[in-house]
Amino acid sequence: MKLFLDTANLKEIDEINKWGVLDGITTNPSLLAKEGKIGFEAHVREICNLVDGPVSVEVTSTNFSGILKEGREIASWAENIVIKVPMTPDGLRAVSELRYDGIDTNVTLCFSPNQALLAAKAGARFVSPFIGRLDENGQDGMILIAEMVKIFQNYHFNTEILVASVRHPRHVTEAAKLGADAATIPFDSFKKLIGHPLTDSGLEKFLSDWKNAKIK
Ligand code: E4P
Repeated sequence: MKLFLDTANLKEIDEINKWGVLDGITTNPSLLAKEGKIGFEAHVREICNLVDGPVSVEVTSTNFSGILKEGREIASWAENIVIKVPMTPDGLRAVSELRYDGIDTNVTLCFSPNQALLAAKAGARFVSPFIGRLDENGQDGMILIAEMVKIFQNYHFNTEILVASVRHPRHVTEAAKLGADAATIPFDSFKKLIGHPLTDSGLEKFLSDWKNAKIK
């Protein structure tokens, strides 16, 4: 399963990247806005240099020609950029068109299996189901993941299921059990994947026993 970090923060990317398990980055306009006064292009280029894997960058245009123009421009900044396109009729149309240009896309804001089916048919490289937001809306995000996995298997779609809007480590476990291709995880939840109190206490005990040992 691919693990992406859901952030536009360079320090967070650098820290997780050092673990050697990071497969890519997803950003969105809200995450970039959190970074304060930055140059959009320069910041995206820096992220792309840091990470050896796809970096999703979202367009803010909503009409077909605007999405195309913006998508082509952003894609020219680095080879590993994936253009994030909203799940709308214009967005879907742009996915097919960008595909002809050889530009990879990630269809974002997916909340239903039929939306996912359309994104796959249009030829998106990734589709991002937002499971945390579904849970918060009183639905079960994992049901959507299970339905998507089944549909994509039935028709051998190459589009990858990139589980998004992850809220806690259990979301990652459940998505992995269902066979999702990837999950994009916020920094705090990513750090929780590695920790366990029994690992800490176990290590402490091994080290204190070793310190007191009479082994030469
Ligand atoms: C995915 O690519 C999005 O950036 C992200 O997961 C959005 O999730 P949120 O619900 O935490 O904003």
